[in-house]
Order: sequence, then structure tokens, then C-alpha cells
Amino acid sequence: MATDDAGDKTDEKVWDFDSYAWTDRYDDMVRADLDMYASYDDVLDAVVEIAGASPSARVLDIGAGTGNLSIRCAERGACVTGLDPSRRMLAQAEAKIAAKGLDVQFALADDPFLRLPFDDSSFDAVVSTYALHHVARKSQPAAVREMMRVLRPGGILALGDVAFRDSDAEKAMREQCDWLDDEFYLYVDELTAAFAETGAILEARQMTSATWILWAVKPLAARRGNDPA
Ligand SMILES: C[S@@+](CC[C@H](N)C(=O)[O-])C[C@H]1O[C@@H](n2cnc3c(N)ncnc32)[C@H](O)[C@@H]1O
Repeated sequence: MATDDAGDKTDEKVWDFDSYAWTDRYDDMVRADLDMYASYDDVLDAVVEIAGASPSARVLDIGAGTGNLSIRCAERGACVTGLDPSRRMLAQAEAKIAAKGLDVQFALADDPFLRLPFDDSSFDAVVSTYALHHVARKSQPAAVREMMRVLRPGGILALGDVAFRDSDAEKAMREQCDWLDDEFYLYVDELTAAFAETGAILEARQMTSATWILWAVKPLAARRGNDPA
């Protein structure tokens, strides 16, 4: 189990999707999985709905993988950019986009949550599903700041991922099931504090026993978390 208590070694863990035997079967795998990816399509639909991926909206999908979230946004007319560190995941995304006659700009990016190659306020929405848990929990507040930086004021950041209300809730879930891995599943309490530091209020909706949708609107005026509202 990778917790902050486990020290720096696990914090450095990287998930190289180009090296896994099952990467080219990702879509089939997630749809057959009733644990981590339970209600997968419902989770993606909810993120797209909350993000309001409307025609011409500039949407950034981080950890885009095989493109399932990007495709949903592009089908609604949004101008989508998808970033991911895996060539093999993006190759599947590009093949699906071409087959559907859609236009999405996919690009390889190392560590995109922490280093987004875009100016401030470049996007109307930032979305991501099942990817932020690959960022060490202690770095997730920096990822929140980086995602909020590229979002325009009034824009929406929407995430869908395995998450728990807090570390105790994760421990309780680990006692009930055997499928939780050594990934940095999100903690709603810690992310609420990270969003508050940017002046934003995190909203949360639980979708399954271990999957949540988390979202926030970037405040119109810059405000620090400890300023009066
Ligand atoms: C479980 S898949 C999710 C893909 C897609 N978003 C979806 O909902 O199906 C995780 C994706 O995150 C990517 N990834 C791994 N480490 C990452 C990191 N540090 N930052 C961003 N993406 C990462 C992987 O290459 C992979 O495509």
C-alpha cells in the first residue's frame, strides 16, 4: 500500500502504461471490471456533463489514455486537447478519433498534472478520469494549482477517480475488499483543502463504493484561501 507513511520510495512510483501486457486491451478490460472501473461509462458521462463541454468550449483532458473522455467532449462540439505520457494509450485514442471523424489534439506529455505546457487561463474546462491517482498524494495539491492555473476564471475543473472521504475511509474499504492497489487514491478532505487554497470550493458526488466525481469552479477574482469570502 502506497501511503505517505511509506516514504519517498513509493512517492516516486510511476505507472508506465507503455510497458504493460494489457495496455492494448485497456477498453475491454475496464468495461469487464466491476471493481475499480464499476460504472465506468456513467462516471465519464457525469464528468462531461458537469464540465459543460459545450460547442467550441476549450477542454483539456489530462491522462487522456485511450480517449474515451476526450471523445465524449469532442462529440459535443468542444475543442479538445488530450495529454498522456503513454504512446500506446494515445495510439488507441488517435485510431478511435480518426474512425469517428472527430478532431482532438492528442500529445505525449511527461507528468502533465504537474507541468502543463499552456498559458494561464487557456481552457474553459479541465477534465480527467482515473489518472490523478497516479500522482503522489503529497503532489496532488500542486496538481490542483497547475490545473487551476490553465483554467480561465469561471471555468470548471471536473475529475472522476477512485477516492475516499479521508484516509480512514480508505482503510475501512481495504478491510472489505481486495482489489485496491498501491495507487494514490484521492482523499476528498485533502483535496477540499487544496482547492480552498486556490479560492475554489470543491464539490463531491460519490458514484460507487470507491468512485467519486469531484469538481470546482475557478473563482472569477483571484482570492487566497484564508481571505474573507
Ligand atoms: C487508468 S488510465 C485512464 C485513462 C482515461 N482517462 C480513462 O478514463 O479511461 C490512466 C492514464 O493515466 C496515464 N498516466 C500515468 N501516469 C500519469 C501521470 N503522472 N500524469 C498523467 N497521466 C498519467 C496513463 O498513461 C493512462 O493513460
